[in-house]
This record gives sequence, C-alpha cells and structure tokens, in this order.
Amino acid sequence: MSRTKIKDLLNATDFGQQVIVKGWVRTFRNNQFIAINDGSTLNNIQAVVDFASTDEALLKRVTTGAAVSVTGELVESLGKGQRVEIKVTELEILGDSDAEKYPLQPKKHSLEFLREIAHLRFRTNTFNAVFKIRHALAFAVHKFFNDKGFVYMHTPIITGSDAEGAGEMFRVTTIDFDSVPRNEDGTVNYKEDFFGKSTNLTVSGQLEGELAAMAFGEVYTFGPTFRAENSNTTRHLAEFWMIEPEMAFYDIHDNMDLAEELLKYVIRYALDNCSDELEFLKNRLLEEEKQKAQNERSELDLIAKLNFCLENNFERLTYTEAINILKSSKPNQKKQFKYLIDDWGADLQSEHERYLVEKHFKKPVILTDYPAAIKSFYMRRNDGDVSGKETVRAMDILFPGIGEIVGGSQREERLDVLQKRMEDLHIPVGEMDWYLDTRRFGSAPHSGFGLGFERLVLFVTGMTNIRDVIPFPRTPKNAEF
Ligand code: 4AD
Ligand code: MG
Repeated sequence: MSRTKIKDLLNATDFGQQVIVKGWVRTFRNNQFIAINDGSTLNNIQAVVDFASTDEALLKRVTTGAAVSVTGELVESLGKGQRVEIKVTELEILGDSDAEKYPLQPKKHSLEFLREIAHLRFRTNTFNAVFKIRHALAFAVHKFFNDKGFVYMHTPIITGSDAEGAGEMFRVTTIDFDSVPRNEDGTVNYKEDFFGKSTNLTVSGQLEGELAAMAFGEVYTFGPTFRAENSNTTRHLAEFWMIEPEMAFYDIHDNMDLAEELLKYVIRYALDNCSDELEFLKNRLLEEEKQKAQNERSELDLIAKLNFCLENNFERLTYTEAINILKSSKPNQKKQFKYLIDDWGADLQSEHERYLVEKHFKKPVILTDYPAAIKSFYMRRNDGDVSGKETVRAMDILFPGIGEIVGGSQREERLDVLQKRMEDLHIPVGEMDWYLDTRRFGSAPHSGFGLGFERLVLFVTGMTNIRDVIPFPRTPKNAEF
C-alpha cells in the first residue's frame, strides 16, 4: 500500500478504505487526536489513536513537529471542523521532535520571529501559502511566454559587465589554494584572476537577452540577479529573481502592452489556481487589520484587490505629466513628502510613486519618457526633445503597495547614438564590443523589461516585507541560511 497525500483525502467519499498518511504533527490533543500536515494542503488531517491499546511510550513521542506515519481506516468524522479522519491501526514515529526545543508551537508566531527561523518557517500555514503562490506564479510566467513562442534563455550569473551601469555589483573572487587550509594568521587569500579579468555577479540578464532577441526574435530570462545596494527596505533584496523578456521589432507601446498582459495573466493564474492559499492569506490580512488601530492604513480585501487590478487598464502617462501632478499635489504643497518635487528632472522616490498609484489614480500606472540623465545608457533617446529636456523611452510600472514592479524600455538601436552615450557615461566601450555588434550587424528596433519576481509575489500574497516572499532572503548584514 502506498502513501496518500492529505489533499487527496479531504474530499474523499469512499469511507472504509485503508490509507497510509505521512507528515508532521501539528498538534496532539487528549492523547488521542493527532493533527497531521504533509504540506500538500493547508489543512491537517485528524488521525485518531486508540490510546488504551497503544503503547504509552510511543504516544509520548507524538509531539509537535515530529514526523509520523499512520495507517488506518478512512472514516467520516463526527467531530467539528473536518469531514474525514483516520482511525489509526498503526502508528510509527519516523523522526522525533523534542517538544521543549522545537521553536514552532501551535500558536500564532510573528513574521519577525519566523524570519529568524527561516529554515523551519516552511512548516507554517502562512509560508506554505506564500511559497505555493510563488511556485504557481513562476509556473505561470513560463506558461505565458511558452504559449507565445518566446524562447527561455539562460543568461550567465557570472559576468564581466555592469548591465545597469550603476556599479552596485558583487565581485567574484576565488580562494587562493596556496593559502589553504589557512595562512599562519588564520586568514585565506583571495584571487580575482580566475577569468583573466574582473568579474561580478549579474545585476540583470538584459544585455545577453538582447543578443538572443536579435536572433530568436522573442526571448526571456528568469533567473537570480544580485545587487549590492545598501538599501534596508521592505522592497529590496541583495539577491532577487527577475523575469526579463526582450523582443525584436517591438516599440515601447508593444512593450507596455506585453508587460500589462503578462501581469494580468499571472495574477489571473494565481486567482484560478491558488484559491485556498489566497483565501487563507486574505483572512490573515483581515485579522491583522482588525488588530491595528482604527486610524491606521486599511488594506483592501486581497482577492478584491487582485480582481480590481485585472479589470482596469493601467494608467499610462509620461514622466513630465507625472511631475506636474506631483508638484501640485497636496503632500508636496504641504511639504509632507520627504523629498519635495520642485523641478523637472528629479528622480521619483517610492513615496511619489505610491502617491500616484494609491492616492491619485488609485490603480496601476505606467510612466514613460523619463529624463535621460536618471535612466540607463541603453535606453532609446527620444527624437525632438525640447532643449534641455532630453528624455528616453523608458517605462516603469508602478503598483499599489509596492511602487516600481517593472522597469523597462525601448532600446537604443542606433550605433552612433549608443556609443556616444556610453562614452559620455565612461562605460568601457572597448570591453562591450560584443554588445555593440548587435547594432553593427542588422540592428533593429527592440524593447524589453524586467519584472521583479519578489515584488510580484509581494503584491499577489499581500505580504508586506520582501523577506517573507523568498525562502532565504539576502539583505545587508543578513545571509544566515
Ligand atoms: O529597474 P531595474 O533595475 O531594470 C533592469 O534591471 C533592466 N535591465 C530590466 C530590463 O529592462 N530587462 O530592475 C527591474 C525590476 C524592478 O522594477 C524591480 O521590480 C526589481 O527588478 N528590482 C528589485 N527587486 C528586489 N530587490 C532589489 N534590490 C531590486 N532591484 C530591482
Ligand atoms: Mg528601475
């Protein structure tokens, strides 16, 4: 007889069948009722042991966190809260769990506490729900692009270039084997010449994606990216996953259409395939809101928020239009913003982005045509800029509660313009000859964008800290697990 997953038993109707269930004990009540969870569903199954006929020493080992295997008859439950239960005939402890030491108790733990035990937090319902949704969203991303004929490209993790030109990179070094096991003073030496040049962990797969797009037409990457920005916020990670499609012959409007379609598709997919998990997280949020003071922010119902996002077109406007709205906005006039908007050219902070999305338009927003000075070197320069106001065909998508979720652009396809721009910014043109070859041989208009995967998971799960939507977060001063 083989093991059945709890998910497949909860709605079963063929009572009387013999089943084997394996999982971890959530609670054990009255020396009789074991609540077992095996990760296949948020719900536990109740296994009822006959304590009179069960070895007492064995029962003592049924503790929260222990791994168990139970065999027995599936019966209709007379108790409240469950349809079915297992009348246990055989109980086996697969792995003990010391009740005194096991950090997860059958009560609600704070997210801060659970972050400190990230290696065990998978076993809670909240993280079961979050990471199931994360999985579903990743799957939906691949399905979306696959169905459209995009080719999934694996771009390198170790690179010699800085795709964003922002200099926020982690250097790659090797341990000098001559100094191993240790120098006399206990240190080891590091070398940077493994590749014969200095290398870093990639900040974006875009540049390599562009090369592939110039052959396949439509490609995407979906991989880890690394940024050494010293931002200790609830929206930044040092290691995050990014989805980066790159498409030949797309202009910025095609780019915006694709990004909006992708976002709506994956949100729809989560709603259709993760209803139990979303319902659980929605209720969790509502509970939390109830406990907060009345005057604190009141979150919309999570599922209503997701549906709202699907039913409305994202608002599209230029950076210049946004600056005008922000300039005359109440928080700007009353000096409530931390950074006041007084001139064209200012970089938007997340407080401004969130004002536009949450207060002004009250829906997702796509901002385009940013000042060239605050955007990356590869973005397509707009022709006919008013003097002093040089703009590029950038597009950022801003989401409620999140701020920037997507950053992208039409790319500069003209060799001379691109080369001049790189020289002006002191980007080593010689080292990036491979990139410029795309503009030398059959250059074509093309576009792409990057969707921050954790920011997407944040939005869909309604969680508020990015550390809670990636299994093992890396942030400044924190890479424990
Ligand atoms: O706007 P960014 O920096 O754009 C790029 O990297 C482009 N090369 C993308 C492209 O056009 N192919 O980053 C894109 C997105 C952001 O909008 C944000 O969602 C996410 O990546 N992101 C981060 N997410 C978590 N932690 C960080 N430190 C992030 N930095 C960017
Ligand atoms: Mg950006």
